[in-house]
Amino acid sequence: MRTKFKAWAEPYINEHPEVSLLEEEIKQLDNFYLEIGSGKGDFIVQMANKFPKLKFVGIEKNVTCAGFCYKKIVTSGVKNAKMLFNDATNVTPLIKDKSVNVIFLNFSDPWPKVRHHKRRLTSEKFLKEYLRILKDDGKIIFKTDNVDLFEYSIEMLPLNGFKIVSKDSNYDGLEEFDAQTEYETSFREKGVPINRLVVVKA
Ligand SMILES: C[S@@+](CC[C@H](N)C(=O)[O-])C[C@H]1O[C@@H](n2cnc3c(N)ncnc32)[C@H](O)[C@@H]1O
Repeated sequence: MRTKFKAWAEPYINEHPEVSLLEEEIKQLDNFYLEIGSGKGDFIVQMANKFPKLKFVGIEKNVTCAGFCYKKIVTSGVKNAKMLFNDATNVTPLIKDKSVNVIFLNFSDPWPKVRHHKRRLTSEKFLKEYLRILKDDGKIIFKTDNVDLFEYSIEMLPLNGFKIVSKDSNYDGLEEFDAQTEYETSFREKGVPINRLVVVKA
């Protein structure tokens, strides 16, 4: 599902600085819920609506997806969801140690070629950063349709300081602390099984 470029997206992002979290701000932020690869924003907006006392931060590197995400945040009126239109590689190093409660990885790009595995959001470089930024009782909640990425993540997480506390290869319900993403809606409609992991620090 490639997102067609929309010329309105970047101007829209620039016209809504109230949605953006500045780099200076993320350096100070504590006690928040981070989604990496927010896509068009269904998840972050639903979660911010459901849990108005929690702070949600989304990172999205694709300009068109980020534009849709900003628009959903603006039109929904939620005040507890902020975005960084950037690559997570640039953002995670700015985040304070032990400041994140939960990292959500929803239908992350699978990067099937072995030479691209290092770009996966569950590759060693990212997992090292997650271990640093998560609180001691923090979690990663990971959902994917992609079996290869799921199996890779099951292997990588324990090698990088995490313990798997829940593994489901047919996640067909929806837990209270969860929301359906755009990709998830589409996969569920097509009957594609959703794989889900919940992991904590080992
Ligand atoms: C397959 S889409 C899934 C979107 C959404 N989470 C969903 O489930 O519907 C993956 C998204 O992650 C974004 N993404 C991938 N790698 C990223 C990175 N390193 N930093 C920020 N965003 C990233 C992509 O631009 C894309 O919008």
